[in-house]
Amino acid sequence: MQKKLKDCDTVALDEGQNAVVILDQTLLPGRTELIALKTAQEIWDAIYLLKVRGAPAIGVAAALGIYVLARDISAEDFEAFYEKFCEYKEYLNSARPTAVNLSWALNRMDRAALQAGKEERLAVPQVKERLRREALCIRQEDVEVCRRIGENGLSLVKPGDGILTHCNAGRLATVQYGTATAPIYLGQERGYHFKVYADETRPLLQGARLTAYELQEAGVDVTLLCDNMSASLMAQGLVQAVFVGCDRVAANGDAANKIGTLMVALAAKRYGVPFYVCAPTSTIDFHTPTGKEIPIEMRPEDEVTQMWYRERMAPQGVKVYNPAFDVTDHELIAGIVTEYGVARAPYEENLRKLMEGHGR
Ligand code: MRU
Repeated sequence: MQKKLKDCDTVALDEGQNAVVILDQTLLPGRTELIALKTAQEIWDAIYLLKVRGAPAIGVAAALGIYVLARDISAEDFEAFYEKFCEYKEYLNSARPTAVNLSWALNRMDRAALQAGKEERLAVPQVKERLRREALCIRQEDVEVCRRIGENGLSLVKPGDGILTHCNAGRLATVQYGTATAPIYLGQERGYHFKVYADETRPLLQGARLTAYELQEAGVDVTLLCDNMSASLMAQGLVQAVFVGCDRVAANGDAANKIGTLMVALAAKRYGVPFYVCAPTSTIDFHTPTGKEIPIEMRPEDEVTQMWYRERMAPQGVKVYNPAFDVTDHELIAGIVTEYGVARAPYEENLRKLMEGHGR
C-alpha cells in the first residue's frame, strides 16, 4: 500500500548514511518514494529538477545538504576546510535563482562555519558539529514559523470561507504545515470547514499533483481548477480570500511566486477578494529593492510542450516562453502574512518595522 504523505518527511537528515533524505515530489501523487542525496551533484539535481521544491523546503535541503557535504571534507585545518565549503556553497546556490531561501540558508550555514572556525578557532570536527546544529535548527524553525504563519493567516478568514491557492505552498514545500496552506490546516483542526480551490498550476502542475493531493489526504474540502478558471469562481462570489506562497519578497513588497500568481492577483483585485502572500521572513529580501530586480528562473521548453502529455502536443520547433515565476505588484497585495504578523502597505516601512520589532 502507498505510504501516506503525513507519514513522510519532505526533507530530513539521515545521519547514519550521511544523506539528505527527501520525498521525491516529481513522482507524486502516483508514487511516494524517499530518496537519499549524498553528493553535491545529487543535491543540486534534486533542487533543479524539483524533486525537492518550494522556497522553504529548498532552503532546508540546502542547509542539510551543505552539512552532509562538509562532514565529508577531509581537510584538518580550517582554511582548507572553508575553501572547499565555499565551493560547495556556491555550487548549491546556483541550482535555482528565484527562491531567496536558498541563499538565505546557505549564508546562515556560512556564518555558523566562520563563527566556529575563524572567530572561536574551533577544530574542524567541532566546526562540523556546529554546522550540524545550525542545519537542524533551520529545519526545526521552519515548522514553528509555518505554524505561526497559520495562526496569523487564520485571523484573516472565517469559518466556511472559500479560499483559493496557486501552486503548492503546502507542507510539501516546507517541513510541515506549508505557508499558504498553514491557515487551512489550522482551520481544519479547529472545524472551520473551508472550501479550498487549488489551481492546477501549469506547466509543472504543482497544484494538481501536490496541493490537491496533500489537502485531500488531510481531509480538507478541496476542488481542483484549471489555471484559467479562478476569475470565474471569483465572479460568482465563491472565493473570500486568496492565500499564495512566495519565493522572494522585495523591499517594496513586490512578491515573486509561481507563474500565474499575477493573473490570480489581478482577478482578485477586480472582484474585491483580498489577496494575501504568505511568507516566512526568510523570504523577505531587503537587498532587492523592487520586483524588477528579482531574478526569474527560465525553465526548459519541454516542460510546456511535452511533459505530462502522452505525446508531444505542440509543433516541433515552436518558440516557447517558460518563466517559472512572475512578480505580483505590491499594490495588488492586501497583506503579507509572516510568522511575526500581517504586514500591510506601505510595505517597505511596515516590513522593516515588523522585523525590527523582533530584533531582526
Ligand atoms: O517551482 P516551485 O514548485 O519550487 O515553485 C514553488 C512556489 O512558487 C511556491 O509558491 C513558493 O516557493 C512558496 S512555498 C511555501
